[in-house]
Amino acid sequence: MKKTAISVSASLNDVHHLLKGTGRVIAVVDRNVGALYHESIPTSERIFIDTGEELKTLETVSFITSRLLEMEADRDILLLGIGGGITTDITGFTASIYKRGVKFAFLPTTLLAQVDAATGGKNGVNLHGYKNILGTFSLPEFTFCCTGFLKTLPRREMLCGLAELLKTFIIADADAYEDAVRLFSDGKNIAEGIIPLIEKAVGIKSGIVERDFKDTGERMKLNLGHTFAHAIEKCAAEDHLDITHGEAVAAGIIMAARLSEETGIAPRGLADRITRDFTDTGLPVSHPFSSERLYGALRNDKKRKGDLLNFITIRDIGTVSVTALPIEKAIL
Ligand SMILES: NC(=O)c1ccc[n+]([C@@H]2O[C@H](COP(=O)([O-])OP(=O)(O)OC[C@H]3O[C@@H](n4cnc5c(N)ncnc54)[C@H](O)[C@@H]3O)[C@@H](O)[C@H]2O)c1
Repeated sequence: MKKTAISVSASLNDVHHLLKGTGRVIAVVDRNVGALYHESIPTSERIFIDTGEELKTLETVSFITSRLLEMEADRDILLLGIGGGITTDITGFTASIYKRGVKFAFLPTTLLAQVDAATGGKNGVNLHGYKNILGTFSLPEFTFCCTGFLKTLPRREMLCGLAELLKTFIIADADAYEDAVRLFSDGKNIAEGIIPLIEKAVGIKSGIVERDFKDTGERMKLNLGHTFAHAIEKCAAEDHLDITHGEAVAAGIIMAARLSEETGIAPRGLADRITRDFTDTGLPVSHPFSSERLYGALRNDKKRKGDLLNFITIRDIGTVSVTALPIEKAIL
């Protein structure tokens, strides 16, 4: 399997070295990011896109490919996605299918994209409300995470990334988990302290992805908290409530921790500890829905096998496993 070079840096200087010799570079840029960082975009050829989950669609792919044709972009180009996870998912997908595939690379500008979306080779768009239903497995040439971008990221977006960062460390690195909780609880020098944490998180994700690129086994662990999170998001959508994916993931991890305790997989006190830690960092730890609502949403999960669903359970901070459990047991 090809490996992606992933770098984390406070400045964008080194990205010019990475781009040297790659030939023609065309950037696909989140319009909001473009407005904030116009001077820093490392190529003059740019396609600006509006973002939002409702715009992660084939229409946007079609818009980008039309622009590429107008620009007479041939198969030697490198498409550079600059933005959050929406932009990197769309750029990777468009590059994978334009002229049967061109090179691509990412400059992720949200914490979520830096620690999660821009690593791992999953690209895609939504169709008829089904998330990421059209997509490819295809790795970028490089991912360059510049933490300078995070200075303008709204706090709520930062917390979305933090939820995925802490998730990754609960899966595989107890020490990094403690460092991340300390950094965000303290709230000072986040810009400096976050660099080694992003490096660790992308290292963990890349390792899991290398061992299970096509998501048939170990990669499932990265879904910690997500089965509950998807149920929470479904209920929120029905009630037109504004709950972000990261907020749902944070509450979902707490539910996974409680389930792990109740089934005797985790030691007593683990869920309370994670709840305290998340609260200290500013992450939400609960949701407003009844057990019956969540149970209904979980029963609609497309991965359900009869009455069973695979849950990622926590043995302790740093170790998780995949456990098939009856759905009614999961609602505590
Ligand atoms: N491919 C994968 O493996 C994977 C993994 C996780 C998530 N995702 C996808 O990622 C998407 C979510 O990504 P996201 O949370 O980054 O959302 P996003 O791309 O919508 O970005 C969030 C918001 O932040 C703004 N923004 C981006 N960078 C900024 C900056 N530096 N300063 C100020 N504002 C900035 C954007 O314009 C947007 O309004 C979802 O579609 C999800 O499915 C993919």
